[in-house]
Amino acid sequence: MLTEFSQGYFQPDVGGKNIPVAQGELSDLAGDEPLFKALYQWFIESGGVYKLEFGPKAFIVISDPVVVRYLLKENAFNYDKGVLAEILEPIMGKGLIPADLDTWRVRRRAIVPAFHKAYYEAMVAMFMRCSERSCDKLRNAIAASSDGSAVVNMEAEFLNLGLDIIGLGVFNYEFGSITTESPVIKAVYGVLKEAEHRSTFYIPYWNVPLLRAIVPRQRAFAADIKVINECLDGLILQARAVSEQLDEEVLQNRDYSTLSDPSLLRFLVDMRGADPDDKQLRDDLMTMLIAGHETTAAVLTWALFCVVQNPQVEARLLAEIDAVIGDRDPGLEDIKALSYTRATLAESLRLYPQPPLLIRRALSEDTLPPGLNGDPNGYPIGKGADLFISVWNLHHSPHLWKEPELFRPERFEEVYTNDAFGGKWAGYQPEAGRGALYPNEVASDFAFIPFGGGARKCVGDQFALFEATVALAMLLRRFNFRLAVPAEQVGMATGATIHTANGMMMRVTPRQAAAGQQQQQQQQETAAATV
Ligand code: HEM
Repeated sequence: MLTEFSQGYFQPDVGGKNIPVAQGELSDLAGDEPLFKALYQWFIESGGVYKLEFGPKAFIVISDPVVVRYLLKENAFNYDKGVLAEILEPIMGKGLIPADLDTWRVRRRAIVPAFHKAYYEAMVAMFMRCSERSCDKLRNAIAASSDGSAVVNMEAEFLNLGLDIIGLGVFNYEFGSITTESPVIKAVYGVLKEAEHRSTFYIPYWNVPLLRAIVPRQRAFAADIKVINECLDGLILQARAVSEQLDEEVLQNRDYSTLSDPSLLRFLVDMRGADPDDKQLRDDLMTMLIAGHETTAAVLTWALFCVVQNPQVEARLLAEIDAVIGDRDPGLEDIKALSYTRATLAESLRLYPQPPLLIRRALSEDTLPPGLNGDPNGYPIGKGADLFISVWNLHHSPHLWKEPELFRPERFEEVYTNDAFGGKWAGYQPEAGRGALYPNEVASDFAFIPFGGGARKCVGDQFALFEATVALAMLLRRFNFRLAVPAEQVGMATGATIHTANGMMMRVTPRQAAAGQQQQQQQQETAAATV
């Protein structure tokens, strides 16, 4: 059933001869179910390392933390992003995600220091201002309603919030998408949609009629890229002009927490030693715009979805938020105190990882380790072997988590080991997380990898989690959210991230009013009982 078109994406089957082959029809992948769910079923049947074959080609699916640790950390440089790099290169150029290793080394070294403490201080204040705008929008929607509540698609609201935040944080551009629409916003959403569409194309469930649509959509894509590039080029020019007026010493001693523009772009042009050309800077900015927008919006969307369905979690969260920030503006220090809020976000990232699959291709032949219970000889693979690391499977694995489908943020406060693996996997140990604020791959020995791990780990992990913590706390302290449709109706769709199939429709009421109403209701009930 595969077209020549689809076969072009994959390397010939050079995966190990001893890797179990999943029994199933590739056409199963073309159904309504998202790809990562089909891959889960085969993981349960075939184990932590298995292969899916189609014609002369194949890809290997990894769901074992020991093999994942090997791929992401121990032998990370033998792997590149393979098919994903090919797909994203026309959008992100030589940005960190698709870049060749030589470019990646130079740019990673330049970009990591841009996420410094003064930057985060300025960012937390900005997250707060943007979240306040979302609160105002919800207040206005409620005020305009006849019954004191508004039904809102919170997925769309979080996408707007995420876009405004990433624009300001990365290149100090005010998209203002919470309240307005503009040609640049339209172009960004167009490119994001295309990036998303292309990254689902690595999956061989091609839909032939789509090919017919390719020419017009490619034209629209080229026009969108042009709008964004012109906008970014203008911002780069401006940032360089400001920086060139200042001498080296002033630049070295800048306090980014007090600048009116503390963005990553500001820092990257101020660091003259690194001296990237404008095209490289644009690729870096575009990559961070795309990598940091939908991912963070998706975390907030699914976190809220989980919280509103778990009253005990919600009650503990609200108690923490009221005690830590109350009516104050939250700051960086407050994030440290919001430990349950942080665990809640981690737990929603466990259940809804963004992205649910990581992609790698072997640069030279290698032998994958046996993992927790695979072939003791390991799995020899050839150069060019395509691998999917299933973050979804790791995070939902019944071998690695107690009651994996339960939403229980408390799990990240507990030590969990599994003796069945004879010490091959260290389990989950909160203290082993190297003092990180959020549960991570080190604490879980690569069973929990929401931001990947090793050399190619996400550079924006703290940015994203601080953003999500501030936004969630600020929204929950002011509003009461309830699903406006049955949970099953929300649905899931695969893209670069997991989004809803039908939007996240929530009924929103002011929280004080909701508390007041509860009290009133209680009083009425007591009065009725007394009568
Ligand atoms: C890489 C997740 C937010 C920039 C990654 C990777 C993951 C990830 C899993 C590793 C991909 C791989 O190994 O193949 C997330 C999630 C986010 C988030 C879940 C939000 C909750 C951000 C933000 C930024 C960002 C806000 C930028 C400000 C990047 C970049 C890379 C990356 C540049 C590539 C790093 C490299 O290859 O050196 N992200 N990310 N991400 N992320 Fe994020």
